[in-house]
Amino acid sequence: MTFPRHRPRRLRSTPAMRRLVAETTLAPRHLVLPMFVADGIGEPRPISSLPGVLQHTRDSLRRAAAEAVSAGVGGLMLFGVPREEDKDDCGSVGLDPEGILNVALRDLAADLGDATVLMADTCLDEFTEHGHCGVLDEHGRVDNDQTNAQYVKLAVAQAESGAHVVGPSGMMDGQVAAIRDGLDAAGFADVAILAYAAKFASAFYGPFREAVGSSLQGDRRTYQQDAGNAREAVREIALDIDEGADMVMVKPAMAYLDVVRAAADVASVPVAAYQVSGEYAMISAAAANGWIDGPAAALETLTSIRRAGADIVLTYWAAQAAGWIA
Ligand code: PBG
Repeated sequence: MTFPRHRPRRLRSTPAMRRLVAETTLAPRHLVLPMFVADGIGEPRPISSLPGVLQHTRDSLRRAAAEAVSAGVGGLMLFGVPREEDKDDCGSVGLDPEGILNVALRDLAADLGDATVLMADTCLDEFTEHGHCGVLDEHGRVDNDQTNAQYVKLAVAQAESGAHVVGPSGMMDGQVAAIRDGLDAAGFADVAILAYAAKFASAFYGPFREAVGSSLQGDRRTYQQDAGNAREAVREIALDIDEGADMVMVKPAMAYLDVVRAAADVASVPVAAYQVSGEYAMISAAAANGWIDGPAAALETLTSIRRAGADIVLTYWAAQAAGWIA
C-alpha cells in the first residue's frame, strides 16, 4: 500500500483550517459602491438592465449612501445624470456648482464628512449631448487637449463640492497631469486622483449607458483601449503613475484579470478594478433565472479580482456583499 506524501487536502479538512491558510481576503473595506444620482426625478428609478441598482434622487441617495457606509464599504463613487435639456456639446452642467453631481457631492460631504471616501466620476459623457467623454473638434473627433481643459474644471468643481477623490475615466492622454496641476493650483493638493488608467472599449458597459441615459452614437475606440492589448495597458498605468495618479484602475475586471495582475506587479500605488455593469447584469440575469447562485457567484468573482491583485474593487454589489461577508 502506498500513500501519496503530498496531500493538499489536509489543509482543506475543516473550516478553521481553510481560514488559516486562506491566501486572499475580501473585506467590506475593499469594496467601493458606484451610485447614480439623477436630476429632475421625483422618485428613485430602477435601471432595468441593473436589477437592484437605482437612479437616485438627492434624498434617496443620502439614505442609500448612509446605509452603504454603515455596512462598512471602503468608499462611494458618484455618477451624475442631468436632465436631457441640460446637456450641451461640452458638458457644462458637470462643471456647474448647481449641477446634479456637484450638489449631490455636497449633500454627501455634509452627511458623511470623513466617515467614507467620497469619489466622483470625472468625465463628460454623462453631461454631453453627443455622449462622448470629451469635447469634439470640427471633424467630430474627441479633442484631447480641449477635453483635458474641461476635465481640470470638472475636477476642481468636484473638489470644491467635497470629493476626496476624483476619478478621470475619459482616457485622454495627459489627463492625470493636467488634473493634478489644476487641483494643486486651486488649493486642492490633498484631493487624490484615482486614474482609470487601463480602460478598455468594452461591450460590458452596456447597462451603464442605460443607467446614465447616455446619448452616445458610435463607440469610444479612439480613446479607450482595444481588448487584446495588455502591454499597452501596462504603459498606460506607468504613464498615469508618472503623471501623479494616487491610485490606478483597470476596467472592466473579469475579462481583464491578467491586466489586473500585470498592474499589481508593476504599480507602486494601490490598484483598483471596476466590476462593470455588464458583469453585474450577467450574473444577476442568470441568478434571476435560477441558473446560478447569485451571491455565491458574485463573491467568487470579487474574490477572483482580489486574487488577481486588486487592492480595491468597484462593484454594484458593494453594500450587499459587505453584508454577505460579515
Ligand atoms: C465613463 C464611464 C463609463 C463607465 C464608468 N465611467 C462608461 C463608458 O466608458 O462608456 C462604465 C461603468 C459600468 O459599465 O459599470 N464616464
